[in-house]
Formats: sequence, structure tokens, C-alpha cells
Amino acid sequence: MKIIVAGTGYVGLVHAAVCSEFGHEVIAYDNDEKKIEAFSSGDADRIVQYVNEPGLADIIRKVHGKHLFFSTTLADIIEGTDVIFLCLPTPPNMDGSTNLTYYDAALEDIAKHLRERNDLRRVVVVNKSTVPIGTASHLKSVLDRNKVENAGVASNPEFLAEGTAVPEARKPDRIIVGCNEDQDFILLQRVYSKFVHHVQTKYIETSPETAEAIKYVANTMLLTYISFWNGIGAKLGEKIPNIKIDDLRLGVTADKRISTWGSFVSNGAGGSCFGKDIASLIYQLRRVNVDTKMLEASFEVNENQKVYLVDRAINENGFQFNNKTIAVLGLAFKKNTNDMRDASSIKAIERLLGKGVSSIRAYDPLANEAARLEFNPSRNVLFEKIQYVDSARSAIEGSDALFISSDCEEFRGLSRTIEDTAVPPYLILDGRRMIPDFEILVKKGYTYLAVGSMVLEGAKVPTAGA
Ligand code: UGA
Repeated sequence: MKIIVAGTGYVGLVHAAVCSEFGHEVIAYDNDEKKIEAFSSGDADRIVQYVNEPGLADIIRKVHGKHLFFSTTLADIIEGTDVIFLCLPTPPNMDGSTNLTYYDAALEDIAKHLRERNDLRRVVVVNKSTVPIGTASHLKSVLDRNKVENAGVASNPEFLAEGTAVPEARKPDRIIVGCNEDQDFILLQRVYSKFVHHVQTKYIETSPETAEAIKYVANTMLLTYISFWNGIGAKLGEKIPNIKIDDLRLGVTADKRISTWGSFVSNGAGGSCFGKDIASLIYQLRRVNVDTKMLEASFEVNENQKVYLVDRAINENGFQFNNKTIAVLGLAFKKNTNDMRDASSIKAIERLLGKGVSSIRAYDPLANEAARLEFNPSRNVLFEKIQYVDSARSAIEGSDALFISSDCEEFRGLSRTIEDTAVPPYLILDGRRMIPDFEILVKKGYTYLAVGSMVLEGAKVPTAGA
């Protein structure tokens, strides 16, 4: 089949690459010429500057020029297309609604080119990025207004998680296809037949509105589950003596019906989707007069979680941040990515700066450069206090306290580095419970304050000669 994937963010590029790997002729289209040039070069270093997904550059190198092509010109590629996937950015507006400006602009352009095509074969235009419920029908009305002949619409939401997008795209949990016409279901069955046959994926056909809703319900349920652990499980461990949060998690998730994913308490879930999708679903539900208290609570718990360790250090440990140097480890929203969107570190660092710290020594194995852009001093002059260093050890050196903000594997078992580099009394704020042997550190005089546990004051260690 001939497929156009419009938009080459991480959803579009991964989808394009994997569809071409399965043998379709795929043209990845984007109006950003620099991006398309980087992807066409096959140079992994240039590709990861835009989309940093393990395994993706290898596929592109393998299939580029055979099944996968890149273009910035719709007029050159539109003829003979069977399916167009829309993988366009849909950022949030201030009120939580979805900003469809980029989406609508690209759609108008595509509709215009479809109207002018010579080959009038059936074409299906498919929403793949997360769009509000009802957008497929909006899409249809734009195609009709532009008098596009023989075109159908579909909703086929993407469920990939960053960092594991390539293996998940090759072997998805499920493929959801929402269409109004049988002929469009058939075209999409042809797109996905290889995926389904090869990997026995659950393939669900439904209405476009249901497909759109599935994505919102899935993402908001995942965030609500994380918020349940952060808002209830973690708080039990923080307020009631002798509750061991890790054992609580193991005991509860031993029930096959309760997921392990999401039960890892944290200083908040970030990323480009959870916050945006829950805000959007709240907005959409309010418009049809549905009470949204439950989703609001889930959102609020998550937002509080991003900053509350700083407040706990003050209230439970009496720590004064004023004029202190703080090491912050883990800047991206999770491990194995350089994505800073809605990362918990952003709010935590803003809070630390608001409390008067003199400097922040920041480190992330992948995201230092992205963080430099995020914390641009033109946005907030206090960001000048952030120094970026190239290792956890170097961040800790000379600091008065440590804040672990993401779950990068290299932070696990950091106790040796802490002992070598920081002299107690020294405060460790662990937003991801990355230091399993914290008790040894506490005995040696370090104070440990983690999400899910009460503060553990460092033991008074006799100084030499005392
Ligand atoms: C999420 C969903 O998991 C995907 O299914 C969905 O397709 C995607 O959003 C999207 O809508 O595009 P992603 O944002 O890549 O994927 O990240 P996740 O792996 O889900 O993690 C989200 C956040 O939750 C991270 O900050 C992570 O560290 C945090 N988390 C995760 C926890 O705090 N605790 C956990 O137990 C699990």
C-alpha cells in the first residue's frame, strides 16, 4: 500500500518506520525541511536530535530509499495514496482544550492536494495523534467542504510510550480502528494485516468517536492509577510509622487484577501526554455537563507531587534552602529519553529557586542539552543559577543536598558515590526511591527523605577526636 505519514514527531516517525519495515511504501511528510534533511541523511546523531528512540535510526537506515521515503512537498507524493496518517502536534491551550491550529493548517493543505489529485482511488485520512472526541467528524467536514472525492476518515490512536516506542510499534498491545464505512475498515485491515498476523495483536474495530475516547480513557486511567499510589499509598508510608511502601506495593500488586506498572511511587508523572490529555478530557466532559472531580483530583495529586519533597524537607526536617547548592539528578520526565515536556524536574527546580538556593548542579545522562533550552534564562533570570555537569558525582560535589527527580538506572545504588563525595550532615531527597540501601547512609549520618517514607534523620556520627 502507499501510505503518507504527515508529521514526523516521535509518533509519526516511528509509525512510518515500522509500517515500511512491514513492507508498505511509506512517505513521511513534514514541512520542516531541516528535520526531513536530517532523517534522509540516515545519520543516527542527526536523527536523535529530533526523535530519540532506541532502534529507530537503524530501521530508517535499513529501509530508507527502499520502502521509506521523505518529502516536504505534498504535491509530489499525493497521487496513488491509499492512506494518510495525521501525526501532527496537538498542544494544549491554557483552558485545557486542545489547540488544533497546526492540525487544521495541515489538514487544509492535505484536503487541497487531495481535491487536485488525478487518481481518484479510495483514500482514508486517519487521525493518529491524540485529538478530542469528534475530531474525525470535523476531519470529514473539512474534506467535504474542500470537495475531496472518494475519501473516508478514521481514528486510529497511538499508544506508544517513549523510550520503548519501536518494540511497542512492532508488537502493539492492541490496534484500535474507528471508521464509519466498511470500505475504510477494509483499507486499514490491509495496512495492519501483517502486524496482526505476525504478532497476534488484539484488533478492535469501532466508531471513530469510541476510538478517540479509548485513548483519553486509557491515558487518564493510567495517570489516575499513578496518582492513587502517590496520593494514598505513598502518603500511608509517609505518615504512619512502620509502613514499608515497597512491601505495600508488592503485596497489593500480587493480585493479578492490580497492575505493577504505575505502582512505583514518584515525584509525579510527566511527559507530553498525561497532563495534556487529562486536562483535555476534563474540558470535554465539562462541556457535556459531566462532573469531573475525580479527574481533577488525579491531576492535582500529580501536580503537588512534583514539588512537595521540597516542602517536606522544610517542614519535616527543618532544612533551609536559602543560599544552598542543590544537586538535581534526572531532568527528563523519565529514564531513557531527553524529553523535558512536563518533566517533574521543571517544577521542582522552580520551587528550589523560589526558596532561594544559590545554585543548582544539574545532571541527566541524555537531557542536559534539552534542559538548557527548557531553563532558558530569558524565561526566568533565576535559571542562570543552574549549572549543567556531566556526571552524578560531579553534581553532588560541593552540594548541600541532593534531589533525585527521575528513574535513570544509573542513579540506582548511588550510595557509594554519595559517601565518596558528600560529607554528612547531607540531605537526600529521593523522588523515585532509587537508593535501596538508604539505611546504611542514614547510619553514617546522611538524612534520607523519600517519596513513600517518613524522613530518616542521619545518625549523629562522632567527629574525629570527639
Ligand atoms: C504515555 C502512555 O504510557 C502511552 O501509552 C501513551 O501512548 C503515551 O503516554 C502518549 O499518549 O503518547 P509516556 O508519556 O511515554 O507514555 O510515558 P510513561 O512511560 O507512561 O510514563 C509517564 C510518567 O509516569 C513518567 O514520568 C513515569 O516516570 C511516570 N511513572 C510511570 C510513575 O511515576 N510511576 C510508575 O509506576 C510508572
